[in-house]
Amino acid sequence: MHFTSTLYTNTPAMQFFKLYSFKKAAVNCDCQSFQFGFVRFFATTCRAVLLPRFGGPEVLELCSDVEVPQLKPNQVLVRTRAVSVNPLDTRMRSGYGRSIFEPLLPLILGRDISGEVTAVGTKVHSLSVGQEVFGALHPTAVRGTYTDYAILSEDELTPKPASVTHVEASAIPFAALTAWRALKSTARITEGQRLLVVGGGGAVGFAAIQLGVAAGCHVATTCGSQSIDRVLKAGAEQAVDYIAEDVELAIKGKFDAVLDTIGVPETERIGINFLKRGGHYMTLQGEAASLTDRYGLAVGLPVATAILLKKQIQYRSSHGIEYWWTYMRADPDGLDEIRRLFEAGKLKMPVERTFPFTQVREAHEAKDKKLIPGKVVLELEFD
Ligand SMILES: NC(=O)c1ccc[n+]([C@@H]2O[C@H](COP(=O)([O-])OP(=O)(O)OC[C@H]3O[C@@H](n4cnc5c(N)ncnc54)[C@H](OP(=O)(O)O)[C@@H]3O)[C@@H](O)[C@H]2O)c1
Repeated sequence: MHFTSTLYTNTPAMQFFKLYSFKKAAVNCDCQSFQFGFVRFFATTCRAVLLPRFGGPEVLELCSDVEVPQLKPNQVLVRTRAVSVNPLDTRMRSGYGRSIFEPLLPLILGRDISGEVTAVGTKVHSLSVGQEVFGALHPTAVRGTYTDYAILSEDELTPKPASVTHVEASAIPFAALTAWRALKSTARITEGQRLLVVGGGGAVGFAAIQLGVAAGCHVATTCGSQSIDRVLKAGAEQAVDYIAEDVELAIKGKFDAVLDTIGVPETERIGINFLKRGGHYMTLQGEAASLTDRYGLAVGLPVATAILLKKQIQYRSSHGIEYWWTYMRADPDGLDEIRRLFEAGKLKMPVERTFPFTQVREAHEAKDKKLIPGKVVLELEFD
């Protein structure tokens, strides 16, 4: 893809697509050799969960002979210990982003990871073989983390605190980096500001509450009744049950920033109306991917950009606020701060249930059917 328009490249709709270049045959590459201590190993193939076509959990295929690609100079080979299941994984499996991903099938799903460094590219300086790390791939990576050996760039990984398990670490990064991008890079929240998190019971919302509290903000949130105690314990000053209560009556005053993890017309209307002039409304449900899926890249992308610009202009003139579609992005400084807060016990992500890696279909089915409300993690065992 080649973009020349300044207007396009500066919008979040375009940023979603231009962040990364896409490569065909991401899961069929040459073998890789690496050093571990004084012994030299050759990892030529490994297990991976392949997505050969879009569909239900039954399309996921656990293969034992997927080739391990060569590392680029800035890349790290990670022996996977745990990967969490994000909504993006189940959505991608069902066909979300097909305008990008269909020509690249088969894919490997999975964004989050915790494991051990097994090899490093020639330009990697901050990580070394044997180190325990955790991190997350960007949203459009085609070789994901549902594999024995995942490849991430140095920027996407950070040392895992010794005090937490791989399962705990794998539940954090993708959700926390999504919240970080919105709060720190887009809204630039500062101490003393008021932050409203719509959907504080979910992973991104819960991370946003904790990042907001750590930044010294006053945080209010909407969530289900079962999440209220947890979000208050995490430092939210007010938690409103979005089913039992009238959110517009229960929450008082105006906010500097609203992070809307739900992003339906009702939550957008409420979020916008709660903002002070100059405040930031950020939704996680930007329409760039869904519009390009519907109309193709050539039409969908300009349509998405036009819709976003129209909303930005409208809300600026009607409410005096800034309107954003926000997306997860790799951010080494953000990941570093997330690790620091995680280590200090100020950023937590409860894991509701773990599955063995071999039961990936069952894990996806449980998330699809909403049988498990919180984070689900796949654990990888090695002989
Ligand atoms: N743009 C991006 O880059 C990006 C990145 C990550 C995620 N996302 C998207 O953001 C969404 C959230 O992701 P996640 O990982 O946080 O998902 P999640 O952990 O599955 O959380 C979803 C939660 O939303 C809550 N909820 C549902 N309807 C609500 C409403 N009307 N008001 C308030 N809360 C409501 C529920 O919480 P309760 O249990 O409290 O009811 C549910 O547990 C997903 O759609 C995901 O695809 C986008």
